[in-house]
Amino acid sequence: MKMSASAHKTFYLETFGCQMNVHDSEKVIGTLIHEGYEQVETVEQADLILYNTCSIRDKAEQKVFHRLADYKKLLAQGKKFGVLGCVAQQEGEKIFERAPHVSLVCGSASYRNLPQMLTQLNAPEIPRPAGENAGLRDDAPSKHATLVRITGLDDRETDECFETEFTARSNPHRGYITIIEGCDKFCAYCVVPFTRGKERSRTSESVLAEARQMADLGYTEIQLLGQNVNSYKDPTGAFSGKKKTFAELLAAVGEVHGIRRVRFTTSHPRDFGRDIVEAIDAVPALCDHVHLPVQSGSDRVLDAMQRLYTREQYLERIGWMKSAKREISITSDVIVGFPGETEQDFAETLGLLDEVGYDGVFTFKYSPRPNTPSLALDDAVPDQEKSRRLEVLMARQKEIQIARYKKYIGTNIEVMVEGRNEARAQWIGRTSQNKTLNFTAPETTTPTIGSYVQVKATASFPNSLLGEMVV
Ligand code: 5AD
Ligand code: SF4
Repeated sequence: MKMSASAHKTFYLETFGCQMNVHDSEKVIGTLIHEGYEQVETVEQADLILYNTCSIRDKAEQKVFHRLADYKKLLAQGKKFGVLGCVAQQEGEKIFERAPHVSLVCGSASYRNLPQMLTQLNAPEIPRPAGENAGLRDDAPSKHATLVRITGLDDRETDECFETEFTARSNPHRGYITIIEGCDKFCAYCVVPFTRGKERSRTSESVLAEARQMADLGYTEIQLLGQNVNSYKDPTGAFSGKKKTFAELLAAVGEVHGIRRVRFTTSHPRDFGRDIVEAIDAVPALCDHVHLPVQSGSDRVLDAMQRLYTREQYLERIGWMKSAKREISITSDVIVGFPGETEQDFAETLGLLDEVGYDGVFTFKYSPRPNTPSLALDDAVPDQEKSRRLEVLMARQKEIQIARYKKYIGTNIEVMVEGRNEARAQWIGRTSQNKTLNFTAPETTTPTIGSYVQVKATASFPNSLLGEMVV
């Protein structure tokens, strides 16, 4: 292992937010370990405390500042604090004002530079004339003469991805692979294009090499990640014969020897092509589940959200999936209370839930975010009304799920064994459709975590199934 200036240091990392953040953290952990750091389980044991943050909604952002405030007193013990991810990118150096004990602020597009920033963070203090700025390192206010402040915020326009060979994956059976970073869509409510920068895709060859490497290590499930996987554009040269569309890449990952399941998230309806459904039809390893966030069922609201598709176009894509050879499970995200959303608009969203028949919907109250175009819109929906709509929506979706999950009772379904719930004396399984199917096994059988077994569903709930292992 490489030993650098930062050898024998310990770090603690806490992650907020989406799967992209979870996977970024795996890469950050791998990078830090390579730099000679040791990961520890508690803040008390750590020299360096890192938060990988989310700013998608106001609540997520507040959580980070509460956590930072809680740990302020630990500064006296010589610990250092770093803020990574979306709040870091969004708030930038303002974080140093709000939380003066922070010494590192780094957005996701700058993680490639982490080793260099860590070296600077650990460098002995060199007194410099006030105002002089030596690269990434700025002078701290005189009150905290020992504080160094490092920022990595300027790379949102980069063409490079955070490619690292040092990913520390936390699950030995199922792992993420990033295929595209950033987002160019600029939906009116969304902070992501500002926090994660412009779209940049990895070459299909590099994605496939990582998939093969994971298969060799014993992984059987891969989840391809991107803010918008459907706008994947292979940077491989057009004349190389190796350039792939997203659907071709998906199929190729599904054909890697040893890989039994491939998932992908998140899809944007505008770029969701029929070729993806054809790939799912053709390659059994591609999971029969698509997460296709609709956000609203009203054309008026979709237009104000700048989603770039109509309700009819969205339903056309649902139609492609419904005519697939295998039943494809469809899930979605919905925002209620976008500025100007009327009772009629909301009713159209409820109607869409009935029409599609989702297996799961993540529902959110609209939360105004810095820099986003919808900040300028009038006609805010009062919070109380947003809450009411959220409840109505969740209740309707629950009814839909109760009916949908019921129809699996009596069928045999393959699950990957994910773990054991001792309290309930049940095994935890996941189906290709991404449903939780908990099950019991005969006393003489102990299913191995990460293996695949057949389970007969015997009961259903709004969010899960229960069954018995078929032996
Ligand atoms: N307010 C509420 N929900 C939001 N989402 C994204 N931005 C906002 C916002 N400003 C939701 C969308 C997206 C999911 C990840 O989070 O539904 O698909
Ligand atoms: Fe949160 Fe979006 Fe950043 Fe993911 S990309 S951490 S959801 S703000």
